[in-house]
Amino acid sequence: MARGNITFVVFVCFSSCLVVSAKRPHIVFIVADDLGFNDVGFRNPDMITPNIDKLANEGVIFDSAYVLPVCSPSRSAFMSGIYPFKTGLQHIVIGAAQNVCLPLNLTILPQQLKKVGYATHIIGKWHLGFCNWNCTPTYRGFDSYLGYYNADEDYYKHTIAGFYDLHENETPGWNFNGKYSAYFFAERAQQIITNHNAEQPLFLYLPFQNVHAPIEVPPKYANMYPHVRNWGRQNFCGMVTILDEAIGNITQTLKDKGLYEDTLILLTADNGAELVAYGNNWPLRGGKHTLWEGGTRVTSFMSGYGLQETGITHTGLLHAVDWMPTLIGAAGAEQVPGIDGINQWDSIRLNQPSKRTEFIYNLDDFYIPTQGHAGIRMGDWKLPLGYPGSIDGWYEPMNDTKDTPLTKNIFPNTGDSPARLFNVIEDPRELNDRAADFPDIVQNLTARINEYRKSYVKANYPKHSEKAVDKAKQNGGVWSPGWC
Ligand SMILES: *[C@@H]1O[C@H](CO)[C@@H](O)[C@H](O)[C@H]1NC(C)=O
Ligand SMILES: *[C@@H]1O[C@H](CO)[C@@H](O)[C@H](O)[C@H]1NC(C)=O
Ligand SMILES: *[C@@H]1O[C@H](CO)[C@@H](O)[C@H](O)[C@H]1NC(C)=O
Ligand SMILES: *[C@@H]1O[C@H](CO)[C@@H](O)[C@H](O)[C@H]1NC(C)=O
Repeated sequence: MARGNITFVVFVCFSSCLVVSAKRPHIVFIVADDLGFNDVGFRNPDMITPNIDKLANEGVIFDSAYVLPVCSPSRSAFMSGIYPFKTGLQHIVIGAAQNVCLPLNLTILPQQLKKVGYATHIIGKWHLGFCNWNCTPTYRGFDSYLGYYNADEDYYKHTIAGFYDLHENETPGWNFNGKYSAYFFAERAQQIITNHNAEQPLFLYLPFQNVHAPIEVPPKYANMYPHVRNWGRQNFCGMVTILDEAIGNITQTLKDKGLYEDTLILLTADNGAELVAYGNNWPLRGGKHTLWEGGTRVTSFMSGYGLQETGITHTGLLHAVDWMPTLIGAAGAEQVPGIDGINQWDSIRLNQPSKRTEFIYNLDDFYIPTQGHAGIRMGDWKLPLGYPGSIDGWYEPMNDTKDTPLTKNIFPNTGDSPARLFNVIEDPRELNDRAADFPDIVQNLTARINEYRKSYVKANYPKHSEKAVDKAKQNGGVWSPGWC
């Protein structure tokens, strides 16, 4: 027994000594809001994204990186490593006046990185609740915050639902009124990098506003797309290109400061493109809000420090819940026990098979006629149950003057029927429903999804609170915490 204890102590010392002596990379985690599968130059030669393409081509492009079908659920998974159907955040997004936030008893990514000495900063979209100060970024592990709590705001006025939503730490960021967000988000990231002490590991979380609706961009970026005749798509493309320029500027500052060689960059979309807002997921089916591949299989890559094989595409299954433990793995920080995410750092950095063989697309029992209901992936097979969400269909980029008509898929019921089955390896476009051919596989995957349902937590989706509006009015017309 004594001997066992000694071995254990030596092992602990060995592993922690290793962790301490290993270099902790700087980490830049970029989230591109609503960026489509086909909205980057490395997939679609019509897109002008030279900086993104260079990072992706010098790094590892993820072919099978999955997320939740909308924003707050994905972001909750990025931060906590837990499926949103277990935290009540599975249904659409957190409304500005909803008394909801990412549960406060969860340990989130920046908190874990801080424990091993990281400086932690967030610039951009939070969208994980703000009704109480304890819900907000600087109370949840971030040293500084420049950004907005909600979604959908004007890119210049920073207003949503009648109130201002741009904050610098705990105060309203009035200085930024009238300025396009990609410019000053990039500038703030560059300032942080320039002023950073290179001895300390840096974590920059950059959830950009681009390229979410509304369709707004300085004209010079839209004008780079004279061949796109559709006004919406042309401006959308400009929104992608200004995001690319912002990423290029930040990368350049990392180089100027001498940090680039020690920086690991992860980029992911939070969900597939919003088709009505001119994003594009071709050749995948459907888009944002849906459990089709177009809503959930997204643009994502890693670049930089620690990757042993680069210039490759990694085909393994990765899910939104994996990013927290994977970045913690890359940082050599302590993993949070009991989460759904898997540390994929070795699989990615050594280009080995993914450690994941299955995942849940989402489980959402709260029916409204846009959001997908339930689905699971196991091996090559995908089983969506019931309403898959809207929009349905396959769309090329809208480069005609008139908008392409989109098929709204309004579904009459709320349950698990029909069960559809796709082999997404053979049929990534989800053209052939095989449910009738393989009833045993349907049964198998249904049994598995029902296992997951044992940990289902009812969606936390309350009515909008007047207290939120009162608080905003009291605080000079700014969405503000302190009403729950
Ligand atoms: C957080 O609190 C919820 C609700 O009380 C509970 O179900 C869950 O297990 C807790 N999670 C953790 C990680 O403590
Ligand atoms: C990138 O940097 C250049 C040079 O400083 C600047 O003119 C441009 O506005 C910046 N673009 C963005 C999106 O930050
Ligand atoms: C849009 O452009 C792409 C690539 O140039 C082309 O393949 C496609 O046919 C075009 N579609 C329309 C509707 O013009
Ligand atoms: C059901 O799933 C399990 C686990 O992947 C697998 O071992 C088994 O072969 C499957 N059975 C059928 C009939 O697909």
